[in-house]
Amino acid sequence: MSLLFSPIRIRSLKLPNRIVMPAMHLNFTMDGMVNKKLIEFYRLRAKGGCGLLQIGGCPVDPEAGGEYMIGVNGDKYLPGLKSLVDVIHSEGSHCGLQLYHAGRYTYSFFLGGKQPPSASATLSGLTREMSREMTVEEIRKTVQDFADSAARVKEAGFDVVEVIASAGYLVNQFFSPLTNLRTDEYGGSLENRLRFGVEVVQAIRRAVGPDFPITVRLSGNDFVEGSNTNKENALLAKALEAAGADMFNVTGGWHESRVPQITNALPRAGFAYLARNVKRLVKAPVAAANRINTPEMAEQLLRDGWCDLVSLGRALITDAEWPLKAREGRSADILHCISCNQECLDNIFQLKPLGCLVNPRVGHEDEPEAPKTPAKKVLVLGGGPAGLTAAATLARRGHSVEVVEKRERVGGQVFAASVAPNKSEFATLAETLFRQATLAGATVATNVELDEKGIVARRPDLVVLATGGQPLRPPIEGLDRPEVVEAMAVLDERRSVGQRVVVIGGGPIGVEAALYAAAIGTIEPETAAFLLRHRAEDPETIRALLWRGNKQVTLVEMQSAVGQGIGKSTKWIAMKEIKEMGVEVLTQARVVRIDDAGAHLDTPEGARTIPVDTVILAAGMTAHNPYANLAARMGDKVVVVGDAGGVSDAAGAIRDAYRKLRAV
Ligand SMILES: Cc1cc2nc3c(=O)[nH]c(=O)nc-3n(C[C@H](O)[C@H](O)[C@H](O)COP(=O)(O)OP(=O)(O)OC[C@H]3O[C@@H](n4cnc5c(N)ncnc54)[C@H](O)[C@@H]3O)c2cc1C
Ligand SMILES: Cc1cc2nc3c(=O)[nH]c(=O)nc-3n(C[C@H](O)[C@H](O)[C@H](O)COP(=O)(O)O)c2cc1C
Ligand code: SF4
Repeated sequence: MSLLFSPIRIRSLKLPNRIVMPAMHLNFTMDGMVNKKLIEFYRLRAKGGCGLLQIGGCPVDPEAGGEYMIGVNGDKYLPGLKSLVDVIHSEGSHCGLQLYHAGRYTYSFFLGGKQPPSASATLSGLTREMSREMTVEEIRKTVQDFADSAARVKEAGFDVVEVIASAGYLVNQFFSPLTNLRTDEYGGSLENRLRFGVEVVQAIRRAVGPDFPITVRLSGNDFVEGSNTNKENALLAKALEAAGADMFNVTGGWHESRVPQITNALPRAGFAYLARNVKRLVKAPVAAANRINTPEMAEQLLRDGWCDLVSLGRALITDAEWPLKAREGRSADILHCISCNQECLDNIFQLKPLGCLVNPRVGHEDEPEAPKTPAKKVLVLGGGPAGLTAAATLARRGHSVEVVEKRERVGGQVFAASVAPNKSEFATLAETLFRQATLAGATVATNVELDEKGIVARRPDLVVLATGGQPLRPPIEGLDRPEVVEAMAVLDERRSVGQRVVVIGGGPIGVEAALYAAAIGTIEPETAAFLLRHRAEDPETIRALLWRGNKQVTLVEMQSAVGQGIGKSTKWIAMKEIKEMGVEVLTQARVVRIDDAGAHLDTPEGARTIPVDTVILAAGMTAHNPYANLAARMGDKVVVVGDAGGVSDAAGAIRDAYRKLRAV
């Protein structure tokens, strides 16, 4: 019997399954009002079978967050919230709303230049701005703001109200000795630092009555030096439970933590231990969160007692029908989140609406499907992300689609993209896209390369050119030497490289190639676990063995910085690894010649020669479109998609193919 699909009670609420979608900012509203975009996004997730959908976070006061978040701090928001709740209920799901106060994580820009309020005046590691200490009157008013908003949550018809006590927001700021330097009853001892969070939950309980469920988003460990660890945060859960909390959704870290939390660097379900740690101290149900991707993993976590519920954030962004497919045993049909953050978190950081690299429909749920057109015979050339997305999009619309891929496998550059440290999930992207195309009815032939005659002979009504990108070769003397290899080839074929490596180009691909080379000779995680478990080596030695390989890698970039083009949420990790792995970075430098002596560079400090065994070329990509003539001749019977029409990235290629073909 499935535990995932067994019911669970949260105070008065009975959920039909153990799947929770945690609160996530979507940036779908710019004035705080619920709109059609939001409603249709959540309608699909409710219809998809998620047990509990948490909406928000929603600022409890105008100073608590921005207008671009869903509003709850005034009665004007009630009609919209009610209509959202009605839709979720009509689809058979349940919903809660997360109450949010950013404290020192708000930018003064959003407060008309005023200093953000916090437990104390400290420098925010996220905004690099100083906060100001809240007065006791302000604290009391804020506690009341939480209670007033909670009353509105209940009035709007939500089933649950949630408080955010994670990610380094205001409740954390009061609880942490790092950010709470107060000497009054809200600072100092553990009990005093707990007081604000406890008062918030108590006030909410008074506002919503004895039966209404209150849930808490908890940081299982702050992962910030000098702040609370798993020990203190479990105590916070215990105190909040005593104050009236009925469920905990346990995540890890603050925004300013230097421990990766939601990227591919964190192993799948890597923070489940934090949920189990909280579970030891509370009776209330506990959800584990972060990087729980597959139904099998979710089921195992429940079975093995790590948690009582599973929190699926981006998994449910990518596939609204994840629960439905899981229940029907169609795990292979799920569109898997690859933890890239490219179109979700990175968009939010740029105040753009949320999307998804894997699923181009995300953020467009309110757009009606285009009316069907007469069935066509379509030939797709190229089985990379663009070609496979084109095939799935067209086949779903009833067209007869054949994909022809010249290589032995589909996926295109995605395989090269999956090789560097922390990029393994890109391999699942190839599987997901292939599965979606074939599920929709497209046929896929590999090891086939057609010439123009072959294309015409197939008599297609439409040809989709998705032949992708190819490496650029800058005019550098010596590029034809045997020690020079393209980054694409190194990564795609997992080639071994020589002892002394120079990487030309510090863009995203160059950084990945450098990390790949630098990781050669590091120990496997299993070996590290063995050494740690048996205390065979001290932890610092094990760290060094994990980080330092046996290659000497130099990354050469013409611009003033490397890694330009990598998203905000993952770039800092790549840069941290470049440093920890001992990659030498040379900026404003260029390789001018390669010969027997090595790579000759122009650097701001003057000419330099680096003896080298392997030169990895990562000087950018350019469109590869071998059928440009055909495109010119066949006119509107040819559509060019993805990198073949102009180099972008996988997100851009998928989006491009979907947008160009969704109405064909
Ligand atoms: C190392 C690396 C890391 C990357 N990391 C990221 C990342 O983190 N995020 C991101 O969004 N993007 C990333 N990218 C870029 C991304 O992979 C590409 O932008 C994306 O794959 C482009 O998709 P596409 O389908 O247009 O082209 P491609 O992936 O290039 O696929 C084209 C396909 O067409 C086939 N083909 C070519 N000619 C023919 C022909 N004549 N007949 C039949 N088939 C043909 C090719 O074999 C290939 O399979 C990375 C790329 C690399 C190389
Ligand atoms: C775009 C985005 C916005 C988020 N906003 C919130 C938020 O408002 N409140 C919150 O508690 N967590 C927020 N989170 C964290 C998620 O709830 C979740 O904990 C995180 O994505 C890890 O879980 P996952 O791997 O299942 O996605 C956000 C995450 C993303 C990707
Ligand atoms: S953009 Fe990437 S991380 Fe975000 S939901 Fe989609 S696949 Fe997951």
